[in-house]
Amino acid sequence: MSSLPSPSSSDTASVPHAGPSRSPLHASAPHESGLKHTSGEAIYVDDLPAPRDLVTGHIVTSPHAHARLGRVDASRARALPGVLAVLFAQDIPGHNQVGPVIHDEPLLAEGEVHFVGQSVALVLAESADVARRAAALVEVEYTPLPAILSIQAAVQAGSFLSDPHTIRQGDPEAALAAAPVRVSGECMTGAQDHFYLETQASLAVPGEDGAVHLWCSTQHPTEVQTLVAEVLGIGRHLVVVEVPRMGGGFGGKETQAAPFACLAALGTRATGRPVKVWLNRDQDMASTGKRHPFWGRYDAGLDETGRLLALKVELVSDGGWSTDLSRAILDRALFHLDNAYFVPALQFTGRVARTNLPSNTAFRGFGGPQGMFVMEEMLNHAAERLGMDPAVLRERNYYGEAPRDTTPYGQPVVGNRLPRIHAELLASSDYARRRAEIETFNAASRWTKRGIGLQPVKFGISFTTSFLNQAGALVMLYTDGSVQLNHGGTEMGQGLHTKMRALCAHELGVPPERVRVMHTATDKVPNTSATAASSGSDLNGQAVKQACEVLRERLAPVALGLLKLDARNESLARGVVFAGGEVSHPARPERTLRFAEVVHTAYLAQLSLSATGYYRTPDITYDRDTGRGKPFHYYAFGAAVVEVELSGLTGEHRVRRVDVLHDVGASLVPSIDVGQVEGGFIQGLGWLTCEEVLFDAKGRLITHSPDTYKIPAVGDAPEDFRVALLERAPQDNTVHGSKAVGEPPFMLAIGAVTALRHAVSAFGPSGTPVTLASPATPEALLRAVETARTGR
Ligand code: MTE
Ligand code: HPA
Repeated sequence: MSSLPSPSSSDTASVPHAGPSRSPLHASAPHESGLKHTSGEAIYVDDLPAPRDLVTGHIVTSPHAHARLGRVDASRARALPGVLAVLFAQDIPGHNQVGPVIHDEPLLAEGEVHFVGQSVALVLAESADVARRAAALVEVEYTPLPAILSIQAAVQAGSFLSDPHTIRQGDPEAALAAAPVRVSGECMTGAQDHFYLETQASLAVPGEDGAVHLWCSTQHPTEVQTLVAEVLGIGRHLVVVEVPRMGGGFGGKETQAAPFACLAALGTRATGRPVKVWLNRDQDMASTGKRHPFWGRYDAGLDETGRLLALKVELVSDGGWSTDLSRAILDRALFHLDNAYFVPALQFTGRVARTNLPSNTAFRGFGGPQGMFVMEEMLNHAAERLGMDPAVLRERNYYGEAPRDTTPYGQPVVGNRLPRIHAELLASSDYARRRAEIETFNAASRWTKRGIGLQPVKFGISFTTSFLNQAGALVMLYTDGSVQLNHGGTEMGQGLHTKMRALCAHELGVPPERVRVMHTATDKVPNTSATAASSGSDLNGQAVKQACEVLRERLAPVALGLLKLDARNESLARGVVFAGGEVSHPARPERTLRFAEVVHTAYLAQLSLSATGYYRTPDITYDRDTGRGKPFHYYAFGAAVVEVELSGLTGEHRVRRVDVLHDVGASLVPSIDVGQVEGGFIQGLGWLTCEEVLFDAKGRLITHSPDTYKIPAVGDAPEDFRVALLERAPQDNTVHGSKAVGEPPFMLAIGAVTALRHAVSAFGPSGTPVTLASPATPEALLRAVETARTGR
């Protein structure tokens, strides 16, 4: 091998050589697209150069929450100059079906419509303006039918999308009857719009032999590929789905990007031309599903010291009109009802209601926040009853040593970091002193009160549908030593590509600038799972690592040859060091090779320079019938201390200070993880305090744009926001000791509710119980203050 020519120096002259200590892994770095995001250079689906003859697809939607479909007449629309076609259900060549799990979701309505905003017809026109005007000319006859618009109405009507799912342990009825302290109550959590900055967007371009290539803003390219193929009635090999990046997904593009992609693909079939379907904000908010509202009822038994003895909880979620992911979301709510606390005897039951509203879907936390909220509400209620500091009550119930270490579904909480996080955070946030100061402040202040709350979080990492826990990667080396990295995950702003680039650069020992992360595409990595469940970097990271290991194994003997060492000696090959753009071996300390030189030599030696990697999470299972198993690979932990100030005159509040200590294991890229913790917390704050989704009595969305729907703005951020990552905490059996981060911090924001309840209670006499609706908007807070003050 050493006789092979080496690459010319011009091939590699520009390669920056990082020193071995300059591995980008476990080091803070900017988001790989951060500059492009801020300068406007980042390319989203709608920024792609328009293909020749681009057609606009515009959707005609139902104005009724429930109605029988009658005669349709598109003749006036078709007569408008510039209109190419108007398509209805009968024009679909394959299946008229886009339900991701259960086939209960027609792409275009057939027979009946089930919510305001449901797609009825697709108009294809030369311009967006013509398409919009033509849509208004499509005549559809509707016979209105009774509509179900709330969980309560659905329960009364027996309208459900699932059977009850129950998790039970011990004898909760007997334990409740014997408990010295009982607290019971009901609560509701509201919907939440994803409010990704980039609305749903798909561009479909027809190819040869009936093929279609889509650029789509989706978290789940494989599912889009599958559904497009089914709608068109063609093989999946004829469909390629490519994701440049998303301007946010938050779960809203896990299943719900697919219908719009299918419509674009359908348009290409009808016109033979490229078609773009891109929703404006109002259309997007009206037609797509949101976080599931949940109703919960709890009945808990505690001893006088606040230890939980028994708990029964019933949950009903609002699934909307079709199943979507509602069953898995309900399961995750049940799995997270316990949050961080051991309950010896319990029964958790949940069911999904069917209403005539948009189909609710995945949203950061995937039911976990809604389940956890019920437990936290119950604990706040219990703390008020017992006159205890809610932080002390929580700590008293943390999972501990066996037998107090096992979750309701039988999975032990291995490596519970909460006791450590609790101790470190209470000390660093000065919780006890500040709580005492708040009591003094509240005693002296009539119309402004403060409150403080601690929120621990334990969140299970893995898809609860076990087979989804798999991922693939394809790493390609070029003879100049540069690298193209393909993996199955999608980038939605969360920094997955930044982490994967750092990981790949570390594994190959090259500077990160030499690694280009390619668009996610189904023709590079097939049969992928959605980028969801916070597991993007866990799953894809392992696959990337494995692909790089294969390449290193191929390159190591080449390097040995170049170093004049025995290329066939496997033990020597294991000692080859790839770092800082260089390749070396301790047995030849005087010589280092350039990575590019080794790669080029391997090419001349006729070695393959690309490799796939594959990973599946080991040993996870769950049996839904028995309610037992090990659904999670591990748990992520974190805690927050939140301090608020509330005006009793206006109901407005400020978040004065937030301290977070969060466990991300050995962070792959700490700056990215801190961003995720901050963003997750703020999004949780939005769900709990200012984002209110309202429908009118006819099922029409009232809050369909930012003028009526308020997401947290810069001014709503905590005035003093201190986020720390738990140090010296590598996780076993994960990629480089790291842990998932995307969803868990969302639930830390429940601490704001505890803090607000503390402040509300201070408006009444000592020990005043609090009734506070969710979201805790100024109106809800004012009502709660009024009740606390007057006792009514
Ligand atoms: N961060 C940004 N900036 N944008 C997003 O859309 N989605 C969240 C979270 N963080 C999201 C985000 C959700 S819902 C999930 S499940 C994870 O990112 C998904 O990415 P990961 O698995 O790579 O963490
Ligand atoms: N979490 C997030 N998304 C999902 C899951 C899950 O457990 N299952 C299917 N999609």
